[in-house]
Amino acid sequence: MEIVLAPDAMTACREAAARIADYMRGAPDPVLGLATGRTMEAVYRALVGMHRDGLSFARCRTFNLDEYYPIARDDPRSYHAYMHEQLFRHVDIVPGRTRLPDGAAPEPERECRAYEDAIRAAGGIGLQLLGIGLTGHIGFNEPPSDFATRTRLVELDEETRRQNAEMFDDRWQDVPRRALTMGVGTILDARRLLMVATGAAKARIVRDALEGPVTPMVSASALRQHPACTVILDSEAAGLL
Ligand code: GLP
Repeated sequence: MEIVLAPDAMTACREAAARIADYMRGAPDPVLGLATGRTMEAVYRALVGMHRDGLSFARCRTFNLDEYYPIARDDPRSYHAYMHEQLFRHVDIVPGRTRLPDGAAPEPERECRAYEDAIRAAGGIGLQLLGIGLTGHIGFNEPPSDFATRTRLVELDEETRRQNAEMFDDRWQDVPRRALTMGVGTILDARRLLMVATGAAKARIVRDALEGPVTPMVSASALRQHPACTVILDSEAAGLL
């Protein structure tokens, strides 16, 4: 595992964007795994800036990690809306080449199987971007999440619903109780992983993930089993290492 220390959050997010751009330029048929959350907003801002300077998304296909369930695509609090707002509407990505789990699918199990099939049909994910939740989740893989899990419907921890309450007018009770997420096994199948964590609130869980036991109780600890994983941290998130 490669650990990159950046002096501040902005530098960490720009470094992540630069690595994503390198992958996009180098791959003939790039398949990007994308993430949501506040940390990623600065990563996407940097990518949009690079697009204005000539970086094209036209050859990219994207798959997001997760989506709330149930939620409508056009609900402004959905991850569909987040991705549109933060990235897709600003770049030349081809409509129809971006995909997130459908939070309005009437049969979630069928949707999860179709999602796995679509990733496989695209040739697998070349580079998967990841944040980390305070519970140690990657995607929405709350503890315990077996490292072999595939895309599935999960229950969210109260801590996660509180962490994500901002989008729901700070009412954590309004955050959906469930979500569709790629499994830890789905994530580990990506050829490269790129995690970004910033801010002092992440210091404890970053330490647990990188230095504690490799355990289903901390999904992000699974990253240490991946042969090509980079973790980019600012000095605050790295503060307890
Ligand atoms: C949500 C996402 C996770 C992400 C996490 C981090 O829970 N489902 O994939 O890692 O947010 O959020 P933030 O960057 O806001 O701390």
